[in-house]
Amino acid sequence: MKGIILAGGTATRLFPLTATTSKQLLPIYDRQMIFYPLNVLVKAGIRDILIIISPEHSGHFLNLLGSIFDKNNIRLEFKVQKTPRGLADAFIVGEDFIDNDNVTMILGDNIFEDDFSEDIKNFKSGGKVFAVKVPDPERSGVVVFNEQMKAVKIVEKPQKWLSDYIIPGLYIYDKRVIEVAKQLEPSNRGEIEITDLHNWYLERGELEVGLVKGKWLDAGTFDSLLEAGQYVKEKKISEKFDPIINQAIMEFNEELKALAKKKL
Ligand code: DAU
Repeated sequence: MKGIILAGGTATRLFPLTATTSKQLLPIYDRQMIFYPLNVLVKAGIRDILIIISPEHSGHFLNLLGSIFDKNNIRLEFKVQKTPRGLADAFIVGEDFIDNDNVTMILGDNIFEDDFSEDIKNFKSGGKVFAVKVPDPERSGVVVFNEQMKAVKIVEKPQKWLSDYIIPGLYIYDKRVIEVAKQLEPSNRGEIEITDLHNWYLERGELEVGLVKGKWLDAGTFDSLLEAGQYVKEKKISEKFDPIINQAIMEFNEELKALAKKKL
């Protein structure tokens, strides 16, 4: 299983914060946002991770993550997405990286309390996504369930209410996703949509839709950014991170402190 974190985009809703760095490098309490999706992948045992970034602040990602896992068996790769063509583009940008493996893609601004390790480890083929109930489904990809809680359709940002369940940014697919993504036509908003990928698998009876336990936050607005920070602090979520990540952050901090001392 390979892992991809999609951490590009322009994040205009967070200007002026994102004039100076990427959204995914903004702080959520005591660490940068990107560590949260990274934790989901590392916790699930994924050791090959591609981080897709925008050209503007690519150096910032390298400064933070370029050598943070040097002592662990985790390989991070970086690739620039020149223009934000849509979420499904992650599988095209990541084609060589995915190679012949399955892939878990997570959005760089999605914060999950849940642990998806078992789903990721047990995945064999097809697609697996997750659903969560939200008060504002019109902002996301909405999933409609039948009475047996079987997913029947998924619609990107529907104008009329269809369901309170949405599909947040964690997607597990087999390698066919690359070819399917390449064949997608851009939507009305000019993007190749992840929802079209879900529907490709759904129509073939090969999409499993699980349920998210605990809180899910998409930290893309001022309010959700603040809420995420407060929630993480209250629930002490950083203490529950994979020890590999906490250790790496601690050592990175020590290194920075030593360097700062030298400069004095
Ligand atoms: O957050 C979950 C939702 O994410 C899903 O329910 C929707 O189905 C999905 O389309 C997506 O909706 P958003 O409108 O929230 O996506 P947004 O354009 O905000 O992009 C999500 C993240 O991915 C964001 O941090 C920027 C990054 N991104 C986005 C695009 C379009 C990229 O890195 N490259 C891109 O090309």
